[in-house]
Amino acid sequence: MPQTHVPVLAGELIEALDPQPGQIAVDCTLGGAGHARLVAERLGAEGTLIAIDRDPTAEHAFNELAAEVACQTRFIRADFASGLEQIETRVDLVYMDLGMSSMQVDTRERGFSYAYDAPLDMRMDPDQELTAAEIVNTWERRRIARLLREYGEERFADRIATEITRRRPLSTTFELNDAITAAIPAPARFAGGHPAKRTFQAIRIAVNGELQQLDDALPLAWQTLKIGGRFAAISFHSLEDRRVKRFLADLARECICPPDFPVCVCGSKPEAELLHRRSIVPTPGEIAANPRSKSARLRAARKLREER
Ligand SMILES: C[S@@+](CC[C@H](N)C(=O)[O-])C[C@H]1O[C@@H](n2cnc3c(N)ncnc32)[C@H](O)[C@@H]1O
Repeated sequence: MPQTHVPVLAGELIEALDPQPGQIAVDCTLGGAGHARLVAERLGAEGTLIAIDRDPTAEHAFNELAAEVACQTRFIRADFASGLEQIETRVDLVYMDLGMSSMQVDTRERGFSYAYDAPLDMRMDPDQELTAAEIVNTWERRRIARLLREYGEERFADRIATEITRRRPLSTTFELNDAITAAIPAPARFAGGHPAKRTFQAIRIAVNGELQQLDDALPLAWQTLKIGGRFAAISFHSLEDRRVKRFLADLARECICPPDFPVCVCGSKPEAELLHRRSIVPTPGEIAANPRSKSARLRAARKLREER
């Protein structure tokens, strides 16, 4: 049975968002509704929670939540970039908890995990066409190698891509595991955790267009906020965190003059106030209780004014 999802950095997220009765909040990644429940409980009967997820199974969590909390609720089944576009009102809070849920990883047949033998799928949205099988079986060798290097930081990317293309067609996660293990030299096989970890991560990011989604959604999330509203994102991968960090740092920058100007002439004022100087990471206690939280980083900001 898939286990329920334990929300990561939950106390820290609530502290950053500081939800108030009557506010409107958007959860861009509902999942098992762990964070959403904590937020919804603080919004009270006058508040509204809008929940987005592209995985239809999140709707079960939504229905349970909607039956138990006092606030108004709405579910948008969509990727978060298009979900945010469907919101016509300005809101007080927008947050996202990126990556996959424990329910997705632990539902064997969805093929997210190298620990279970399953078809090579990895789609968060089962209606989309691109699957892990298509990447593994049809992409050119060099394209696969680049994917593994960029999204998985896999040092043996070329060797793994060669082995994958040599063994085609691959149809299951264990066939992919075998190709990866055979490609990595024996002494290095278990040096950085499970040998398939980085390759699975890279393929999953590509199947779900995760970085493109984030690039598209960040400006939409920010536009959707009222002045005084708060944005927060929890990321699990340095490529995601870098995007969130840069996006918020640009909004919080005082001066937008070109770097070679000797004095500031822009008179610009920042659009955002960063709520923390550095990203917030889980405590050792949280990591011990929930190892999945290990790579999590929270960043948050308050909107000070509209676009400069
Ligand atoms: C880490 S889980 C969220 C868990 C949730 N915060 C909780 O406490 O239960 C991420 C969820 O976001 C969804 N998701 C990831 N990327 C998405 C995207 N681009 N658009 C919509 N949903 C997305 C996944 O389907 C998954 O259900």
